[in-house]
Amino acid sequence: MRIFSGIQPTGTKHLGNYIGAIRQYVEGQERAHAAGDDALFCVVDLHAITVAYDPAELRTRLYDTTAVLLAAGLDPAKCILFRQSDVPHHAELTWLLSSVVPNGRLARMHQFRDKSAAQRELVSAGLLFYPVLMAADVLAYRADEVPVGEDQREHLELMRDAARDVNRRFAPELGSGEGGERGLLIVPEQRTPPVGARIMDLQDPARKMSTSSGSVEGTVYVLDEGKALEKKFKRAVTDSENEIRFDRAEKPGVSNLLEILAASRRTTIDEAVASMADARGYGDLKVAALEAVDAELAPLRERYAELRPDETALEAALATGAARATEIAGEVLSDVREAMGVGVPRGVSVPGRG
Ligand code: TYM
Repeated sequence: MRIFSGIQPTGTKHLGNYIGAIRQYVEGQERAHAAGDDALFCVVDLHAITVAYDPAELRTRLYDTTAVLLAAGLDPAKCILFRQSDVPHHAELTWLLSSVVPNGRLARMHQFRDKSAAQRELVSAGLLFYPVLMAADVLAYRADEVPVGEDQREHLELMRDAARDVNRRFAPELGSGEGGERGLLIVPEQRTPPVGARIMDLQDPARKMSTSSGSVEGTVYVLDEGKALEKKFKRAVTDSENEIRFDRAEKPGVSNLLEILAASRRTTIDEAVASMADARGYGDLKVAALEAVDAELAPLRERYAELRPDETALEAALATGAARATEIAGEVLSDVREAMGVGVPRGVSVPGRG
C-alpha cells in the first residue's frame, strides 16, 4: 500500500489541517514504513500559484509548512517528503491527463466556483486546472491511499475518474487499477479520519476552519499558544441551551468542540460526551477542549521552534525526498508516455541519445 498526500504552503497551518490531515500523515508514515512501503508527502507550491500570491511569501511559507510537517513527526528517514516543483513529472502528467478530463466538469467543481468568485482581478486557467494537477500528484506515484480531510472529496472523485479513463482508453490490457488489480494507473482511495475530518470555524461553526475563508478569531493555528489560544476557545460560539450533546445540525458549535476534544484526546465522540457528564456548562467544555488541544500541540510548537530557523537543513530534507520521488514518478511517466504514444517509443534507440 503506497500513501500520498499534499498540503499547500499557504497561510499558517491550522487545527483542521492538523487533525484532518497531518496527524494521518504521521500514522500513514509509520504504517507504510513497517510494511516496507512508501509514504509520500508533498508541499504543493505549484497549487499555491493558482490564486494571487507574493513570490517571496511563497518561499517563506514553504519553509513554514515543511517545518510544521517535520515538527508533527514526519521523518525523512521513514517517508518521502518533498516540494512539488522539484519533480517536473507532476506538471507533465497534468498535461497528459488533460486529454481525458472534461472541461465542463472542472468548471463545475465547488472549489473552482467558490475561489473564482473570490478573485478580484484574475481567474487564472491554473485555478481551473487545480484538480488536474492534484490528480497528477497522486497518480504519478500509483498511490493506493490518500489521507485528506472531508473537503477534498470532490477532488478525489475527479482523480479516480481520471485514472479509470486513462486505464480504459490507453491500457485496458494492464488491468483496471481498482480493487487490488494492477493497471497503468492506480485508482486511489480517500482516507479520512473517523473523528475530525471536518473541523469547523470556532466563530462560525457552519463553515469549515480555513485559512483562506474563515475568521481569524475562529481559526486555531497550530502555533497558537497561551492567551491567544485561550481566547479563541473561550469565545467559541455555542448556543443558547446548556446541554452538552453531539448534534451537528442542532448544536453545531458544541458538536465541533466535542469533536475537537475527542480528536485531541484520541478518543471517540461518545467518550468525549461522557467525560463532560459533570460539566457545569459550556465553559467547562471550552476549557477541556483548550487543554486537550494545547497538550496535543505543545510538542509540535517546541520542535518547530528548533527546526524552522535552519532553512539549509529544510532544503536538504526536501532534496532527499525529491530524489526518491523523481525515481518513482519517472518510471510511472515512462509507462504513461508509452501507453499514450507520446515521445520516443520503447525499444527504439535514437542515435546520440543514451
Ligand atoms: P490544503 O493545504 O488546503 O489542506 C491540507 C489538508 O488539510 C485538510 N483540511 C481539513 N481537515 C479537516 N478540517 C478542516 N477544516 C480542514 N481544512 C483543511 C485538507 O482536507 C487537506 O487534506 N488540494 C489540497 C492539496 C493537495 C493534495 C494533493 C492533497 C494538492 N495535491 C494530492 C492530497 C493529494 C489542499 O488544498 O489542501
